[in-house]
Order: sequence, then C-alpha cells, then structure tokens
Amino acid sequence: MKIAVLRERADGERRVAATPETVRKFGALGAEVAVESGAGSAASYDDAGYAEAGARIGDRGATLAGADIVLGVQGPDPAELGAVSPGAWIVAGLNPFGARDRVDAYAAAGLEALAMELMPRITRAQSMDILSSQSNLSGYKAVLDAAAAYGRAFPMMMTAAGTVSAARVFVMGVGVAGLQAIATARRLGAQVSATDVRSATKEQILSLGAKPVFVENVAGIEGEGAGGYAGEMSPAYQAAQAELVSAHIARQDIVITTALIPGRPAPRLISDAQVASMKPGSVIVDLAVEQGGNVEGAVPGEIVERHGVRIVGHRNVPSRLAADASALFARNLYNFLSTFWDKEAGRPVLDAEIGDAIRLTRDGQVVHARLLGA
Ligand code: NAI
Repeated sequence: MKIAVLRERADGERRVAATPETVRKFGALGAEVAVESGAGSAASYDDAGYAEAGARIGDRGATLAGADIVLGVQGPDPAELGAVSPGAWIVAGLNPFGARDRVDAYAAAGLEALAMELMPRITRAQSMDILSSQSNLSGYKAVLDAAAAYGRAFPMMMTAAGTVSAARVFVMGVGVAGLQAIATARRLGAQVSATDVRSATKEQILSLGAKPVFVENVAGIEGEGAGGYAGEMSPAYQAAQAELVSAHIARQDIVITTALIPGRPAPRLISDAQVASMKPGSVIVDLAVEQGGNVEGAVPGEIVERHGVRIVGHRNVPSRLAADASALFARNLYNFLSTFWDKEAGRPVLDAEIGDAIRLTRDGQVVHARLLGA
C-alpha cells in the first residue's frame, strides 16, 4: 500500500496534506509513504522531517508511481495521475460542485475520488472533518486580519495620556468560524456581538461572553438545520434581518461575516449603503468572499476601501496559517484512513454511510448522488 503526498500546485495554496507526524503514523499502519520534494516547505515542514519520519522523498513522477492513495489539500490535476495504480483513491478537498470537469476526468481515469468536504456531520466523523478544522483557523485569522487593518486598538486601555475605548466587533454567522472569531475577538479585549439564523447559536454566543443580536418575531431556524447547516431564509426574515443589522452595524468598528449555505451562493448580509453607514476607519472581513460574498463590494483576494471602510477579502484564509492548518488537515486525513484501516487487507475499506457520502467516482463512473442530480 503506497500513499503519495503531493506538493500543492494551486495558486496561493501553502498547505500540505501530510506532516511528518501523520507520515509516521501511516508507517505504523504498514503503509509506505512517498512525499514529493518540497511538498511541505510553504507550511514549514521540510523534506528532512518527512524523511526522518520514514517517507521516501522524490520528484512528482516517482512519488505518484504505483500509488494506491494520493493525498491532497486540493484535488491534483488528473492529467498528472497517469502513473498511479488503477482504482487508486484521490483523497482531498475536491470542490465537486465547482470543479466538475476534474471529477469527470478522475472517473475517466478509473480513479476513486473521495471528497473530504462532503464528510457527513456525524459524531464519529468529527475528527475527519476538514471544513471544521479549517474554519476554526479561518475564524481566528479573520480577527487578526481585522485587527491588522484597523487603525485603532481592540482592548480598552487606560493610560496616562487618556483612555482608548474597546473596539466593537460584530460577527455574522456563528458556525465553526464565527464561534472562533467571537472567542478570539473577546481574548483581544473587544466588545463582541453576534448573529445567526439558527437560534441554537444564541446560547453559544452567550456562553462566549458575547451579545446575541437576533431577529425576533420572524421564524428563523429553530435548533439545527439539516446536518447542522443553514438553509435559505424567507423574504420576510431577510427583510427583518436587514433592518436589524442596519441599526446595529452603524455602531460597529469591525464586522466579520462567515455566513454560508451549502450548495448555494453565500447570502448577502451587508449592502453598500450599510457599509456607508459605518464610521471611517471601520473594517469588514468577508470570510465568504470566495463563495460569492456576504458583503457588497468585497473582492476576492483584495482589501478594498469603500466609503472609508476597509473590506478585507482574503482568499483561502486557512492557507494563511499554513503550518497549523496543514497539521489539522493532515490529522483529519489520517483519522479518516486509519479509522477504516482493514488490517488483513492492508488498506482502508469504507462503510456505506461515509463511503456513499464522500465517494464521487468509482469504476470509471461518477457515482455521487448529488452529482447525478438525484
Ligand atoms: P457554515 O460554514 O455552513 O455557515 C456558517 C454559519 O452561517 C452557520 O452558523 C449558518 O447558520 C450561518 N448563516 C447562514 N445563513 C445566514 C444568514 N442569512 N444570516 C446569518 N447567519 C447565516 O456552518 P459551519 O461552520 O460549517 O457549522 C454549522 C453547524 O454544524 C454548527 O452548528 C456546527 O456546530 C455544526 N457542526 C457539526 C459537526 C459534527 O457534528 N460533526 C462538525 C462541524 C460542525
């Protein structure tokens, strides 16, 4: 059983899908691990560390030759996978709905593509959930990015020269990233408030010492939506939310938006007029910018200034913390493969619940229900 770890080729991608720690653990399972030279360098993991952990270091061709499992952060280019064994697994974040051509190419090449972002949100799969591990770091980094773009301090400071008041931070969307953003902004000393459409988050916001700001008298999502995710809200809810947010936003220094709806463009939460209502020098960080954006005027990969407000739209935020993001991503992949490791077969064997949820292609066909329109 040979596991290949490639150097990521996507623009701006600094993460790597295995670390020396997980290489060592795969070795203990009996797998041989090959790592492409330089695979971890942008995330501060050097070749020597992988070699010490038992990996064979080589060029891309040697790494892929005869591989049974190819690990990636993002999906590798199918054109480069000619040397892997037929039936080999591609295990990565594969962006199945955004990169359909690639999925078709994996199928045509007879590969079994497993999309880690489709991992079901069930208790036993929590340790394999790349969306959670990466969102958590994004939420943290969003606050630091906001602090860096903000020309004032976060905590209240009483100095001999006078008092600096605490920054007001508003977090919109309280999933994994939003919760970490609240916690981080609190640690920096900000006055934090937060909102979500799922009323279950109210308690979580309070427990982190922040103030919940919620639409009242219009039904939101009680408890958790399907799989813990939100759906699209009614026009009445959206109107009530816009009104509530307008009044609140004008008094904020920092807004961090994280709202996503699986399989749809991100909901628009802040209009240009609402941006204009904020004080000059305020900062908005739009973590949903690559999914269409929560904020009007946010530009992927850029920090733009509108009405004196900085709108931060970094792409691939987890990659901005590449060492930790890689460590957690790599553990997610290890936890996944090791959980299903069949000692006799010397390889992982998936069960139906998780296999059907994440398997995109098999035996030359696209097999995932959502890709087949079922
Ligand atoms: P997400 O990244 O899909 O969305 C972020 C947040 O935006 C969500 O809280 C969502 O409710 C919110 N949102 C959507 N539309 C909105 C709107 N119009 N206005 C305001 N907020 C809006 O969500 P994420 O972070 O992936 O987590 C969602 C839930 O799943 C959480 O409750 C989390 O605890 C749960 N979860 C469960 C796991 C498990 O059991 N294995 C693993 C990870 C998360």
